Amino acid sequence: MKIFTTPAEVSAFSRQCRREGNRIALVPTMGCLHDGHFSLIDIAKKHADVVIVSIFVNPTQFGPNEDLAKYPRTFEADCRGCEAHGAAAIFAPAPESMYHPDSSVWVVEEALANHLCGLSRPVHFRGVCTVVAKLFNIALPDVAVFGQKDAQQALIIRRMVRDLNYGIEIITAPLIRDSDNVALSSRNKYLSAEERISARSLSRAILALEECPLEEIAARVEAGKKEIIAAGGKIDYFEIVDTDTLEPPTAETREILAAAAVYYGSTRLIDNTIVRFK
Ligand code: PAF
Repeated sequence: MKIFTTPAEVSAFSRQCRREGNRIALVPTMGCLHDGHFSLIDIAKKHADVVIVSIFVNPTQFGPNEDLAKYPRTFEADCRGCEAHGAAAIFAPAPESMYHPDSSVWVVEEALANHLCGLSRPVHFRGVCTVVAKLFNIALPDVAVFGQKDAQQALIIRRMVRDLNYGIEIITAPLIRDSDNVALSSRNKYLSAEERISARSLSRAILALEECPLEEIAARVEAGKKEIIAAGGKIDYFEIVDTDTLEPPTAETREILAAAAVYYGSTRLIDNTIVRFK
């Protein structure tokens, strides 16, 4: 497995692979890889000949008081995991090789980003779109894989690809849960043992909505909120929205995204599920 640290190296690798007739997949990550990320690599392998995993803790998607400095970095273990899952290359750039000091161009999505996480993390999706656009331009993939855990991110990336004519196939991979049902996340590492137990209230509340009939959903959301608060969680949001627009559901809505962000101590976790009505 190759490890590249500059955009020029990975672009050259990608072009060479393409000349040899290979289809290329990109799995963008911020490292501290877990089984959720490895499932993205496994899926990418089914859709491409060559899988490139980017590992970059992107500073521009963190707000001033967020966890950029303490975001867990486990590069050696990440490399071992990527190799074991059959990635062909890792792209692990330093921030200086991704952003010029006077960088002044951003990719901004202006509709979907005004909901859910976008309200409490105002610069987040601008940073995500900008870095993902750059990664697409650098790694030149045919296909890219994102996790459903970040449902809003996946939707926004699809919109960006559509609106900017990227011509890249976007695959959204299922959310993966740990044995206690907590959604896998690199940020789970921050939780104390007690907070980890409290965090089960979020997945319980979300899972209670699966297969839920439309007429019961509001009551179940309220019950879930109460359970989360009783377990010590501080709710940032817990909403049901149309899966395509992220707007409140209407009489025509047949599929909703139930999504929540909750603080356990200082750790903000997100979780979601899609509910389909007959
Ligand atoms: O989901 C993530 O880990 C990040 O938001 C991404 C897509 C790698 C962009 O930095």
